[in-house]
Amino acid sequence: MPPTLVDGTRLWVDARLRALVQRRGEAPILHRLGGDVPGGRALELGPGRRGTGLRLALELFGAEQATGVELYPASVADARLALDDLGGRVTVVQGDATALPQDDSSVDAVFGYHVLHHVGPWREVVREAARVLRPGGRFYSCEMTARFIDSRPLRAVSRHPADGDRPIPEAIADACRDAGLTVVAQETRLAGLWTGLVATRS
Ligand SMILES: C[S@@+](CC[C@H](N)C(=O)[O-])C[C@H]1O[C@@H](n2cnc3c(N)ncnc32)[C@H](O)[C@@H]1O
Repeated sequence: MPPTLVDGTRLWVDARLRALVQRRGEAPILHRLGGDVPGGRALELGPGRRGTGLRLALELFGAEQATGVELYPASVADARLALDDLGGRVTVVQGDATALPQDDSSVDAVFGYHVLHHVGPWREVVREAARVLRPGGRFYSCEMTARFIDSRPLRAVSRHPADGDRPIPEAIADACRDAGLTVVAQETRLAGLWTGLVATRS
């Protein structure tokens, strides 16, 4: 990943505005598409420093407890601080979404907000999500699509995996099916720049 002059990803992901977009825009769409978490245990892949998705797993999706698996230790530490008020209901651990520490069929829901497009072998992340979901469990995912990631303005300020297999809307749905999930709803918005999807494990 070539360095950019400004670390746009970091600036955006850490911003209050990002949390607001997630809370007011993305999570309600995913909730409308997939409903409440079907059970108490939620897992989020790549929750970032604010951990907004973990908070929303409890507040909006009705999970009893939520675990975040985040690649970067500094983000793990910041997320733990940011979520301190939720006590033992939320845990954040360092780990890689392509090789999750969770057991097979051990969670009711997996959330991924903009994590797939940061991972080169993103199909492995989808496979891992399917592996850890129990039958009937749900995968909630939203992503900026290749159309946005590969646009000139974003390339100037953000680092993403090298060109190649990007998680475009159709590819995410196909990867879910290949991993044994059934896509129950997908909505692509903003002229194809954003896609949200919910899939269940049969
Ligand atoms: C674009 S940020 C999104 C953060 C947050 N989910 C949000 O929507 O604001 C991508 C996040 O995924 C994390 N990440 C990237 N690769 C990962 C991996 N292989 N396993 C776990 N987390 C990863 C990054 O550290 C970062 O926190």
